[in-house]
Parts: sequence; C-alpha cells; structure tokens
Amino acid sequence: MDDVLPADLPEMSPESSPVPAERTAGERHVPVLLDRCVELLAPALQQRLDGPDGVAPVVVDTTLGMGGHSEALLERLPAARLVAIDRDPQALAIAGARLERFGERATLVRAVYDELPDVLDDLGIAQVHGVLMDLGVSSLQLDEVERGFSYARDAPLDMRMDPTSGITAADVLNTYDARDLSRVLHVYGEEKFARRIADNVVRERAREPFSGTLRLVDVVRDSIPAPARRTGGNPAKRTFQALRIEVNGELDALRDAVPAALDALAVGGRLVVMSYQSLEDRIVKQALAAATSSTAPPGLPFEPPEHAPRFQLLTRGAERASEAELAANPRSAPVRLRAAERVRSGRVPAPGGRS
Ligand SMILES: C[S@@+](CC[C@H](N)C(=O)[O-])C[C@H]1O[C@@H](n2cnc3c(N)ncnc32)[C@H](O)[C@@H]1O
Repeated sequence: MDDVLPADLPEMSPESSPVPAERTAGERHVPVLLDRCVELLAPALQQRLDGPDGVAPVVVDTTLGMGGHSEALLERLPAARLVAIDRDPQALAIAGARLERFGERATLVRAVYDELPDVLDDLGIAQVHGVLMDLGVSSLQLDEVERGFSYARDAPLDMRMDPTSGITAADVLNTYDARDLSRVLHVYGEEKFARRIADNVVRERAREPFSGTLRLVDVVRDSIPAPARRTGGNPAKRTFQALRIEVNGELDALRDAVPAALDALAVGGRLVVMSYQSLEDRIVKQALAAATSSTAPPGLPFEPPEHAPRFQLLTRGAERASEAELAANPRSAPVRLRAAERVRSGRVPAPGGRS
C-alpha cells in the first residue's frame, strides 16, 4: 500500500498568522483538491438517481469548515441540495453566512459526523447521492491561536473542535497517568520518544499543572535526544497531533462515520474522503476495501450475485495534490484522496470483520 508518513497540516509561521478577522471565509481558506472533489461527486448529483423526478439529489458535506467545498458544490451542481455538518460552532457561523444566499438548498447541522444517520433521520432523508469528508482541523482552527492547536505561539492548551464540550488538551496532560499518556503519544502521534515525554510531563505537572502550549513545546523538546531533533521539523508536531486526536476522539468517530456514509448512499451515489495523516487514511482505506470486496466464501467457482461488492473504487490508491495545487495551497501537501461509488444496494460489511 502507498502508506502515508505521519504528517499533520503544515503549521502557520508566527509571521503568517493570525489572519485578520476582516478577511472573508473565501480569502482565509483555499479548499483542498476542490475541482477534483466536484468532478468526482458531480455524476451522482446532476440528476435524480432514484424515486420521483423533481426531488433534488442530496450531497452531504460532513466537514463543513469554512464552507469552501460546500459553496462550490452548490454553485456548480445547481440540481443538488446540501446537508452540511460540523461540530465547531464557529465554523457553522462563518460558513452559514457564506452559504446564506443559497437559501433552502443548504441545511447546516451542528453534529459529530458519526451521527450522520440521526442527522438524516431528523431531516426525513432516507438516502443521499454524494458524501464529502475533508478530515482534520480547518485553517480557521489552526489560525485562531487561542484555540491551542498551534505549537508556534503561546495559547491555552485547549484543542477542542467543539469548545463547548469535552476534555481539553490540558485535562489530558494533567490527569492521564504516564502509561496512558505514553500510549496516546505513541499510537496517535507515532512518537518514538512517547514514554520519555510522558514521564517528563508527569514530573513537570507535579510542580505546576500545564496550561499553555509553549511550556509543552519546551518539555517535548527537552525529552527528545538532540540528534533526533535535527530532522522532521518541530519536535512538538507529533505530540500536538496526538493530543488533538485524543481530545476530539477523531479516529473513533471516523471508524463509525465512513461505514455510516457508505450505508447512506443510494445506488450510483459517491463518497469522497480526504485524509491528512496515515492513521486516518488507513481507516478510510480499510472501510473502502471492505465495501469493494466480494463477501463470497473462498473457493467458490463463481460469485453468487448476492455476494458481489456493493461499491467500486473511483481512485487507484490514494490521489495526491499536483505540483500546481501544492504551489497554490501548501496545506494540501499531506492530502490523500480516496473515492468510491455504490453499484449495488445493501449494507456494507464491517471493515476487518468488525460488527
Ligand atoms: C479540513 S476542515 C474542512 C474544510 C472545508 N472543506 C472547507 O472548504 O472550508 C475540517 C472541518 O471538519 C470539522 N470536523 C472534524 N472532525 C469532525 C467530526 N468528527 N464531526 C464533525 N465535524 C468535524 C472541523 O471542525 C473542521 O471545521
């Protein structure tokens, strides 16, 4: 497999952030692989795929952010109705203003994306025709220093995508025991020096609990041997990625959300997912592998039609950003895009035999 190196979204330098508040959402954020996403989703959304004519096909943007992809989908696919989800109230407010001109064609919902079945139920929508997932944090979240996602400037150690609920990064650092902390850093940050960092955090917090990002950056730097510090950018990058994933339960939500999105699609409907680090991409890849595999028992001389795959892949491996895209938008560097189309009705099998 074309496995992905652990990489987070590139950090903003202190010079390039914060972004002045008066810039519009469109100016603040360049959507990643925008044309490719629309091109992949369009065939499913240009006309009604099932049921009576005159009912708009539905596209779900599960990661609305500042609404860049949603806006383009509404502009370029005039037959489609949009349901857009985000857990971040600030993102919903900004994107809501941006999409206001589309009136009833756009419905915005505050939810975690693994709640997609409930969101659709509440709206009385049985099936959808496109789903877009642009994973991870938004430029808005990275650029708003006080939200604590950035290791470049001092800010409270928060990192919640929804700042109104759940534990903060400071809670994790100040309450997890060294073993749990080390597991989080090792598994979610792929951090080789996880145990040393965890032990140093536990020692340091006994002096004074953690509250700001730069103190954590110092502790991480001091925990990593000098030769290992010379490569791979800021040594705190992996620790910040790990804390963000833990605080927001990102991988658990994704593990449930991809099969839920696949199940929601009508025949002919399409899913497009963009991941920015290897752990996310692996979950997406496994879910798509399960959905595009035959469920026939091994050794049969033919494939009974009821065991035929429900989906087919639209991408070979994971697609990357082109040179031109990278030049225009450096944050597209780590992106891995995968897409699939439903070819047969029925529930998708759980990835790796999960029930
Ligand atoms: C990379 S940004 C999306 C950017 C968007 N495509 C655009 O053009 O502006 C990811 C967004 O997804 C949201 N998000 C991440 N995980 C989520 C989850 N589990 N449930 C709901 N929203 C989530 C984040 O709050 C963030 O606003």
